[in-house]
Amino acid sequence: MRILYIFAIFATFLDLSLGDGDDENVDYQITDKTYPEGFVFGVATASYQIEGGWNEDGKGEQIWDTWIHNNPGIVADGSTGDVASDSYHKYKEDVACMKEVGVQYYRLSISWARILPTGRIDKVNQAGVNYYLNVLKELKANGIEAMVTLYHWDLPTALQDIGGWTNPEIVEVFADFARLSYGLFGDYVQTWVTINEPKQICHGGYANAGYAPGIDSKGVGEYSCARNILLAHARGWHIYDQEFRSKQNGRITIVIDSDWYEPTNYTPEDEQAAETKRQFVFGMYANPVFIGNWPQVMIDRVADRSAKEGFNSSRLPAFSDEEISLIKGTYDFLALNHYTTYMVGAADEPAIGSPSWELDAGGNVYQKDTWEQAAIGWFRVVPWGFGKLLKWIKATYGDLEIVITENGVSDRTGTLEDDHRINYIRSYMSHMLDAMYEDNIKITGYTLWSIIDNFEWTQGFNAKLGIYYINMTDPERPRVAKKSSKYYAKVIETGCLLDSCA
Ligand code: NOJ
Repeated sequence: MRILYIFAIFATFLDLSLGDGDDENVDYQITDKTYPEGFVFGVATASYQIEGGWNEDGKGEQIWDTWIHNNPGIVADGSTGDVASDSYHKYKEDVACMKEVGVQYYRLSISWARILPTGRIDKVNQAGVNYYLNVLKELKANGIEAMVTLYHWDLPTALQDIGGWTNPEIVEVFADFARLSYGLFGDYVQTWVTINEPKQICHGGYANAGYAPGIDSKGVGEYSCARNILLAHARGWHIYDQEFRSKQNGRITIVIDSDWYEPTNYTPEDEQAAETKRQFVFGMYANPVFIGNWPQVMIDRVADRSAKEGFNSSRLPAFSDEEISLIKGTYDFLALNHYTTYMVGAADEPAIGSPSWELDAGGNVYQKDTWEQAAIGWFRVVPWGFGKLLKWIKATYGDLEIVITENGVSDRTGTLEDDHRINYIRSYMSHMLDAMYEDNIKITGYTLWSIIDNFEWTQGFNAKLGIYYINMTDPERPRVAKKSSKYYAKVIETGCLLDSCA
């Protein structure tokens, strides 16, 4: 009892992990503070979600093309990304939208198979290279900086055929792709991201079969994927650092996504369950990069469960000392994608028998029905969770510079009167401003997902996240401004979230 009391006082003092933040936020007021001078605003997209042109001009096939074409039922509305927002032909219209909103930078990704159809360095597709050069030149002509992601989930199928991210060979193949890209495009790129959201790549692609390549290798493949992803990222970072940074003066990092995991009650047991979950979600990818090695709680839990399951060694593959040093410190800043929050309560240790990352993490993880639901199942609107995540990151990883590389909300209709999106942006950005002013967290940029409606993976066109509407049945794919684009433009112009701002 006494321990509980001390914990509660300690937690109150830190304003961290205090159970259901709903109650704390009933009277939450949007801040009237403004973004500081030098803070930068951007928008984001990814190659497969917007480009289309899936087999044009020599592009190779990538895992989403293959997976969706081979499994027609896999996308909620039966659509594909074959044409998507047709940005392969309409990128100038995308840039015009960005210009209208007034963003300082655009986060886009390169389709690996568009420039290297087999994924390998020996065959470069010049038409694909020209496409990205054209996009980058168009941005430059419009005074918009480029933040370019090398890998946003679209692995060349030829590389999947040899095991994809579970084959250690991928590390050097990715390194070749990275070096080629810096050489081809680096003069136009201010910021590089090696890999987007490794959690989704590994758990969605190699465990839950929810994302391409749709492999179910729970508790095993998902960990070797994570290991190779981190090594590939580290190689990509060092190549830039050693061979290109002094000439190109850009910055480079990895994008890690994290929800917030709030303890069900203010008890040490629930707090521990939530903290363990945070370590399995964010720490799994952040610790090797920002601290060195997997989080200890992962090392211990997976080793323990693996032994009970009858494995001879842990399902979590260890890093050697050399690998730990190779990965550690491979960031110029922390790039964070954030959308939603979960509650976590302590639970009995999951039964032994079916290995998986989810069971290795344990805990009773759920969302509240009372939280506003967006178009995608997992997606509930919980703005206070954003503030808590930012505080936890500072408390756990230190005083890092953070750039928010994705945040935004979905709906089904694509309505132009998207007040719900304005509310989402306003309230999430307000909690972010609070974190900057009240907790001195060094956040220097915010990237809204997304500038245009696009292909939302297995939700297809059922989930629209753009601030410009696209009618996906219209062959012309016109971009039409939603109300939220005007709101975001005003935030960028004034630095202020309130309607009353001049
Ligand atoms: C994160 C992913 O990076 C992006 O591709 C996706 O569209 C958004 N989340 C929204 O689900």
